[in-house]
Amino acid sequence: MNQSREILRVKNIAKDFSGLEVLKSVNFKVAKHERHAVIGPNGAGKTTLFNIISGKYKPSSGSIVFKGEDISGRPPHILNHLKLCRSFQITNVFQELSVFDNVRSGTRCRNGLCYNFFKKPDSVPEIKEETERILEQIGLANERDIPARELSYGQQRALEIGITLSTQPELILLDEPTAGMTLEETAQAIKMIDRVTLNRTLIIIEHDMNVVFSLADTISVLHFGEILASGNPDEIRNDQRVKDAYLGEE
Ligand SMILES: Nc1ncnc2c1ncn2[C@@H]1O[C@H](COP(=O)(O)OP(=O)(O)O)[C@@H](O)[C@H]1O
Ligand SMILES: [Mg+2]
Repeated sequence: MNQSREILRVKNIAKDFSGLEVLKSVNFKVAKHERHAVIGPNGAGKTTLFNIISGKYKPSSGSIVFKGEDISGRPPHILNHLKLCRSFQITNVFQELSVFDNVRSGTRCRNGLCYNFFKKPDSVPEIKEETERILEQIGLANERDIPARELSYGQQRALEIGITLSTQPELILLDEPTAGMTLEETAQAIKMIDRVTLNRTLIIIEHDMNVVFSLADTISVLHFGEILASGNPDEIRNDQRVKDAYLGEE
């Protein structure tokens, strides 16, 4: 991969929890504007890896290089400024606020108005326009005025992605965004993720192989704390080690 195309590099990341070695030595690279899926069996350490990339956990060793800068162990709010953003679970949605206000809270902070109580956010047209654009993208334009708690499960997860988008991230991390969704919700969510990650970089943890193989440009397989294989969907589909360890013989 051309150095200038690389946005993220995970180098020899290891993580143990009081002796339990979850990640041994994880290595992979992500190119700018790539959609990169991380797959692997339950308990393989996928979420732990995300927690390290997004700054929630410090690695035991190794480093994370984002846009050429070593960001290992930096806290999430610093990483947000660098435009690396992780979508959190529904708990980060403000249930009593309207859908519009949930998304606006992010654009507002980004524009440096977080602490400006004298300026009404509605008086800043760019914020309003951008919030509306995001609501369009996530398919919640019609729900803009209802409180978040009244949304369906699938819509709440879309909102969560909308809040992430409002910080204008270059790299988005999504951990099982379609978990718990019906087939129809999943299909819609994938279309939406496809739309909103255009011209952005995505790393997605996903267990649904249809989703993985239709969405991802590159796939890394995490197995026993290491990357067993990393490549395009065809390479992964035909990789004997991956078939043996994970995909099976379908
Ligand atoms: N904060 C933590 N403290 C102790 N053990 C943890 C912690 N987070 C994850 N683990 C352990 O790390 C292993 C991998 O978990 P996780 O990263 O959630 O896997 P995955 O997302 O691939 O299913 C599991 O055995 C889990 O119990
Ligand atoms: Mg997980």
